[in-house]
Amino acid sequence: MKGLLLAGGHGTRLRPLTFRGNKHMLPIANRPLLFYGLDHLKEAGVREVAIILGPIKEGIEDQIGDGADFGLHVTYITQGEPKGLAHAVLCAREFLGEEDFLMYLGDNLLEHGAAPYLERFAQGDASAVVGAVPVKEPRHYGVVEMAPDGNILSIEEKPASPKSNLALIGVYLFTPEIHRIIAELKPSKRGELEITDAIWALHKATGRVRAIRLEGWWKDTGQPTDLIEANERVLASRPKSFFAVQGEIDPQANVSGHIALGAGSVIAAGATIRGPVVLGRKVRVESGAYIGPYTSIGDGSVIRRAEIDHSILMENVTVDIPGRIVDSIIGRGSQISERTHHPKGHSFILGDSTQVVL
Ligand code: TTP
Repeated sequence: MKGLLLAGGHGTRLRPLTFRGNKHMLPIANRPLLFYGLDHLKEAGVREVAIILGPIKEGIEDQIGDGADFGLHVTYITQGEPKGLAHAVLCAREFLGEEDFLMYLGDNLLEHGAAPYLERFAQGDASAVVGAVPVKEPRHYGVVEMAPDGNILSIEEKPASPKSNLALIGVYLFTPEIHRIIAELKPSKRGELEITDAIWALHKATGRVRAIRLEGWWKDTGQPTDLIEANERVLASRPKSFFAVQGEIDPQANVSGHIALGAGSVIAAGATIRGPVVLGRKVRVESGAYIGPYTSIGDGSVIRRAEIDHSILMENVTVDIPGRIVDSIIGRGSQISERTHHPKGHSFILGDSTQVVL
């Protein structure tokens, strides 16, 4: 079984975070999103993985290399312009050969990984296995209508009148039969080769596409709020071993719950931390500061007076204000401070497409 991990696309909905970097390298619990996909492929028994690269690919190859750190053999395939998920499969045709493969969208996070797909596939009656979870707003997703035995009745991409509340999630197991279908596929109205069209055509041709309902949470991290929620879910479900304290916690600091603290970090007397929280290396949390649950703070950041809750701060961020910051994502090297001179007021230096909520 090979692995195909998609890290292409433009990530427009995550701007400004994706102007410079690839969205799959944004940190969730201080770890690039894409690393979780690699973990899940490994746990499912895959060893050979191709990563699909799109127009913004900086940082991916540098950090993942040949995949040895993940126990995988990783190669890279350039898709360039994102012409659809089925187009990504087409680009990987040579790599995939005549083997079965697990296709994993790099912006998806699954609580229990991809192992249930292999369990279903082992029953031996499937040309493909897809996964579904119930969602509140199925109109925004690929929607699958499923018979009680897991047989598929229909699949539609973002339907105006959904036939079920089951969203198709971004992990798929395919046999090489999918390549014949994709070779014949026509672009959709939005000009993409849609994987939902390919799956439906495969089902019509073989009657052997099986759907499984997945247990546990699933997150598609398309928008900023999704990243914050994913950070919460991941911090809530990390094993105890993740919460190692390598830095220094002053005995006069007030620390409760699970906290991971990187080497060289200091939590000063009079600072308050309520886990689950992850703080990277060389982070300083000074007296009077408060870090609340489900917060991740990147290496080299400094938190002075502020209160920070339910947020993601990347590397080298400095926060020094008397107020509370909630539900926020703060990019690398940002500084938030109090204006102490006249004229009083808020002062901003913001890049394009920034969001400020005061
Ligand atoms: P999308 O979320 O559909 O697209 P995107 O990442 O470009 O984001 P936006 O809509 O905000 O511009 O992509 C889903 C996943 O598939 C994501 O991990 C990127 C990947 N992808 C590719 O690798 N190639 C493609 O052609 C497309 C469309 C997506």
